[in-house]
Amino acid sequence: MRVLIAGASGAIGSQLVTQLVEGGHEVVGTTRSPGKSERLRALGAEPVVVDALDPDAVADMVAKAEPEVIVHQLTALSGEMSMRNVKRMAAATNRLRTEGTDHLLSAARAVGVRTFVAQSNALWMERTGGPVVDESGRIEPNPPADAAPAVAALLHLEAAVTGITWADGIVLRYGAFYGPGTGVSAAPDAFMTRELRKRKFPIVGGGGGVWSLVHIADAASATVAAIERGRPGIYHVADDDPAALRDWVPYLARTLGAKPPRRVPGWLVRPLAGAGAVDMMTRARGISTEKTKRELGWEPRYPSWRTGFTDGLS
Ligand SMILES: NC(=O)c1ccc[n+]([C@@H]2O[C@H](COP(=O)([O-])OP(=O)(O)OC[C@H]3O[C@@H](n4cnc5c(N)ncnc54)[C@H](OP(=O)(O)O)[C@@H]3O)[C@@H](O)[C@H]2O)c1
Repeated sequence: MRVLIAGASGAIGSQLVTQLVEGGHEVVGTTRSPGKSERLRALGAEPVVVDALDPDAVADMVAKAEPEVIVHQLTALSGEMSMRNVKRMAAATNRLRTEGTDHLLSAARAVGVRTFVAQSNALWMERTGGPVVDESGRIEPNPPADAAPAVAALLHLEAAVTGITWADGIVLRYGAFYGPGTGVSAAPDAFMTRELRKRKFPIVGGGGGVWSLVHIADAASATVAAIERGRPGIYHVADDDPAALRDWVPYLARTLGAKPPRRVPGWLVRPLAGAGAVDMMTRARGISTEKTKRELGWEPRYPSWRTGFTDGLS
C-alpha cells in the first residue's frame, strides 16, 4: 500500500516508517523541517515538508502524494516540559487534533483515500467504573477545567475520524508511550528519565491513577496491523499490564538507578501542575486490548512494562 504518515519524524512516526517499509509498503512521511528529511529518507520514506496547520499546503501535499492510506500522528508533546512550555505544547497539540485533523480529512477525501488512521490516547477515559475500560468506554465528559480543551480536542478527533463514510476511519487510543524517542527512555535528556533521576517526579495523591503503557515499537506494530486489517472504529493499543502510578513509577525509578520517588499530596501539586495533571495521576483508568488482539491478530512484544523498562528503553 502507499501510506502517508503525517508526523513521520516523531517518536511513533519514525518507528512506523521502519516497520511499514520492512513490510513492503511505500511510505511518504511528513516533517516541517528540511533538516529531518534526510533522516526520513534514510529510514526508507519519501520525505515531504509541510505545515499541517496550512490547509492549502496539506491539500497540495496529499494530492501530489496520492496515498491509499493516511496515518495522522501529529502532536506537539515532545520537548522541554517546563510549566510554560507544557501549556504551549498542549495548545499546539489541540490545534493539530482539531484543525490538523480537519485539513487532513478534507485532503484525504479529495484524493479518495481508502483508510484514515489517527492517534488518540487513553488517558482521559471516563472516571467511573472499574480500573480498565474497553472501546465502548467514552472519554470523560466532565474533566477539570484546565484539561477541558485537550479532552475536547480528543473528542473532536475521534468523532471526525470515526464519522467518515467515504473511507474506513480508524482511531487508535494508545496507552502512554515509552521506549526510544519518548519521554521515558535510556536517553539522559528524556523528560521523565531526567526528572526521576533528580527526584523531581513525585507520586501524587497516593498515585492511584491506573495507566496503560505501551512500548513505542509495539504501538507502531499495532498501527501497521490497523492499516492492514483494521475495520472502521476504535482500537485500544497498550500492554497487558495496566497499573497504578504508585506501582510502575517506583519500578521505573529503580530500573533507571534513581532513588524512590517522593510522595506529595494532591492539594500541594494542584496549584502548580493543575487539576488536570493531578486527575491523571489519581483517577485515570487503564484500557483493555482484547478487541485489538482478536480482530487485528496483534500481540505486543512487551506484554508488561516490567520487561519493557528493563529491556526496551534504548
Ligand atoms: N502521544 C501522547 O499522547 C503523549 C502524551 C504525553 C507525552 N508524550 C510524549 O510525546 C512524544 C510522543 O510521540 P509522538 O510520536 O506522538 O510525538 P512527537 O515525537 O512529538 O512527534 C510529533 C510529530 O508531529 C509533527 N508535527 C508537529 N507539529 C506539526 C505541524 N504544525 N505541522 C506538521 N507536522 C507537525 C512533528 O514533525 P516535525 O517536528 O518534524 O515537524 C513530528 O513528526 C513522546 O516523547 C511521548 O513520551 C506523548
